[in-house]
Amino acid sequence: MAVLLVAIIVACFLVVAPGASGYPFQVCGTTRNFAASDATYLASINSMAATLPRNASTSPGLYATAQAGQVWALALCRGDANATTCSSCLAQGFQDLPSACPYNKEATMYYDHCFLHYSNVSLSASDYAFSSAYPFFFSANATAEPGRFERVVSALLNATADYAAYNSSKTTLYASGAVAFDQEIPEVYSWAQCTPDLTRARCRDCLALTIQQGLGTPLYSVGARILGIRCSIRYENKPFLGGPVMVRLSAGPGALAPTPAPSPVPALALVPSVVTPVAAVVGGESSFSRNLFTITHFCFW
Ligand SMILES: *[C@@H]1O[C@H](CO)[C@@H](O)[C@H](O)[C@H]1NC(C)=O
Ligand SMILES: *[C@@H]1O[C@H](CO)[C@@H](O)[C@H](O)[C@H]1NC(C)=O
Ligand SMILES: *[C@@H]1O[C@H](CO)[C@@H](O)[C@H](O)[C@H]1NC(C)=O
Ligand SMILES: *[C@@H]1O[C@H](CO)[C@@H](O)[C@H](O)[C@H]1NC(C)=O
Ligand SMILES: *[C@@H]1O[C@H](CO)[C@@H](O)[C@H](O)[C@H]1NC(C)=O
Ligand SMILES: *[C@@H]1O[C@H](CO)[C@@H](O)[C@H](O)[C@H]1NC(C)=O
Repeated sequence: MAVLLVAIIVACFLVVAPGASGYPFQVCGTTRNFAASDATYLASINSMAATLPRNASTSPGLYATAQAGQVWALALCRGDANATTCSSCLAQGFQDLPSACPYNKEATMYYDHCFLHYSNVSLSASDYAFSSAYPFFFSANATAEPGRFERVVSALLNATADYAAYNSSKTTLYASGAVAFDQEIPEVYSWAQCTPDLTRARCRDCLALTIQQGLGTPLYSVGARILGIRCSIRYENKPFLGGPVMVRLSAGPGALAPTPAPSPVPALALVPSVVTPVAAVVGGESSFSRNLFTITHFCFW
């Protein structure tokens, strides 16, 4: 049954090639436009700019949706963002997105600490409408041992997805992870998150599909993000987390079992203070590639 469900979901994803460039990552709809003369759509977007960032940043899951006129919007901040960062990140989204995707009814902008999505089509958590997942990755290889690195990253992503879905607080559905690799790469860090209105099982399905959609992504590169509206996942061989590591793998040969966090609350001592400036995380825009194979869009059934 589960296999069938996954097969159906995969089968009804459509392949599109949306416009997207470097950080911040924008995904502009390709089909639904509004006329330049139609001031209403833009006005509806702008009418949410004043309150949606605050509503999301003050909600426990750093999440909010809103409807204004024809426009439905969804805002989510990374589980480790504080309210100030969350709110200003989303405000930036309202500032950037309408000009990044001019006249697109549907558009999404992904930043390090948040993303903003709007569309004339609303998504409900129960309609199984998993949206697009877009892989973005650094082109530089992490190591001379790409095969082992890829296996370690794959295990890390799986464990982070498990933890986000099943072991996180239900208000966030967020997890951070880390695994030691070698002397040159002491830690590979990860992050996974779903919108908190998904059920835990649906969150895990979404992350599984997202990881699967990133299969063409070279997981031996120094970092990659596979970004979607309902869930996203990321890894990088440099620190980028703003909070504690929640799931830690040990990467010895054949020893990739997750180590439960030692306390009910994620261990604060594991990785102290790993906030990294955005520029250091992202690197040159030109070093980012978009996988051409992107599987996307909405699937209603
Ligand atoms: C969204 O916009 C498209 C194109 O303008 C239109 O065909 C479609 O019916 C709209 N959908 C909704 C739910 O309003
Ligand atoms: C923000 O929350 C307030 C209070 O719940 C609500 O009245 C307002 O409509 C919300 N803003 C948006 C854009 O949904
Ligand atoms: C929020 O987080 C940012 C880093 O993401 C930090 O610079 C800032 O001091 C934090 N603000 C508060 C109020 O904790
Ligand atoms: C990176 O690793 C892959 C897989 O081993 C290899 O095909 C590719 O040529 C490498 N790229 C560079 C720039 O070394
Ligand atoms: C991660 O999960 C996928 C799908 O369940 C599986 O195919 C893959 O082998 C797993 N990776 C590792 C390293 O366990
Ligand atoms: C996560 O939750 C599952 C099921 O509740 C439990 O079996 C597992 O030990 C937990 N894993 C961690 C790493 O805490």
